[in-house]
Amino acid sequence: MPTGEVVFSAAQIQERVRALAREINALLPEGIPHAVIALKGAVFFAVDLLREMDREVTIGFAAASSYGPNTDSAGEVRLRLDLLGEVRGRDVLLIEDILDTGLTLAALRGALRERRPASIRVCVLLDKPSRRKTRVSAEHVGFTVDERFLVGYGLDCGEAHRALPDIRAYSPEGEAASPGTEEGES
Ligand code: XMP
Ligand code: MG
Repeated sequence: MPTGEVVFSAAQIQERVRALAREINALLPEGIPHAVIALKGAVFFAVDLLREMDREVTIGFAAASSYGPNTDSAGEVRLRLDLLGEVRGRDVLLIEDILDTGLTLAALRGALRERRPASIRVCVLLDKPSRRKTRVSAEHVGFTVDERFLVGYGLDCGEAHRALPDIRAYSPEGEAASPGTEEGES
């Protein structure tokens, strides 16, 4: 399962997640926020983050997929929002794995805004600012990273490597053919 060099160890990730949870708790209004977890990549991160936040929260899911099975963000984002939950009037915390070109987050923010939440905050585990194609940012960022393609802790390459406890640079050497699907699920 391991691929390239470890970029963030499991311990580093957990330490950063604890700090993010404190930061978010201090800024989210009192009451019960609605966390929207972006499938599939943010699942591991969201579970750890919400546990660390240690407060009452409701959850919903959004899925974004872009076309192309591997490491390219192809530009066209398709959203599935049927498990979003009730957003109107809520303080929404959108939890994403990685902010890359920004097209996915722009589409998700737009879809949430249309549903009239009281507020939206976005928390991404990773930010790759050098790859941005649209002006979008997250209120909370775990780590800022360079352009390398990363896997682990929810991040996949063609659906492989999501369950790694750490985040690694993806290295195709010596890998068996990936079990990827036609359409790149986030
Ligand atoms: P955009 O370009 O829309 O992309 O900001 C966000 C989505 O692209 C995927 N992505 C990655 N997935 N390792 C991954 O496993 C990466 O290094 C990476 N860069 C972008 C991811 O699905 C994210 O939600
Ligand atoms: Mg993916």
